[in-house]
Amino acid sequence: MNKERWDGRYREETYAYGEGPNAFFNTWLPKFEPKSILMPADGEGRNGVYAASSGWQVTAFDLSSEGKAKAMQLASRKQVSLDYIVGDFAEIEFEENSFDAIGLIYAHFPAEKKAEFHQKLHTYLKPGGVVIFEAFSKNHLPYKQANPRVGGPGNMDVAFSIEEIQAYFPNYSPLLLEEAVVELNEGKYHVGQGSVIRFVGRK
Ligand SMILES: C[S@@+](CC[C@H](N)C(=O)[O-])C[C@H]1O[C@@H](n2cnc3c(N)ncnc32)[C@H](O)[C@@H]1O
Repeated sequence: MNKERWDGRYREETYAYGEGPNAFFNTWLPKFEPKSILMPADGEGRNGVYAASSGWQVTAFDLSSEGKAKAMQLASRKQVSLDYIVGDFAEIEFEENSFDAIGLIYAHFPAEKKAEFHQKLHTYLKPGGVVIFEAFSKNHLPYKQANPRVGGPGNMDVAFSIEEIQAYFPNYSPLLLEEAVVELNEGKYHVGQGSVIRFVGRK
């Protein structure tokens, strides 16, 4: 989906994927000491705001200005702050070795940009830093066809495989790397069974 479609989805009153964090992110983030974290494609901020509430210093970005507006409302309600940049990741740069963690939660980027974007992310993470990743796998399509309410991309080129994760985050020590069928219950747009890739790895 492009910026206009994301803005349209986030203009709805309720939070598209809920106000609470993704369950996998909620399980893994507390295992690490809160320092700096980058939240790419943070949408309405459910995960960035959760990280900030847990003591992390959060930098988030997303294409959608409506996503940022919702994220700021959520942050204000939770009485936390985060740095949220609106823009296309093609136009956003950070210094090398800037972040202690990167949280990639359903950060589905355009297929032709996917490799380039993940190579950039790899350089932004400090040595010893961690990636926490959950997104739809290339085997998700039958789940979406059986139950459109589970959501996910229509084009499986923007979804992920274990091999891609190994290539994007080379020589990381994996704490977890799996493809799994999970039951999602996140707001209005991730409801039901889906096939996902999950990765937690240290650079
Ligand atoms: C499925 S949503 C996930 C939002 C959030 N991570 C969550 O789990 O609630 C995917 C997000 O990717 C963002 N996105 C897609 N392409 C992007 C790009 N090139 N640069 C920045 N954000 C992008 C969209 O705006 C959208 O908010």
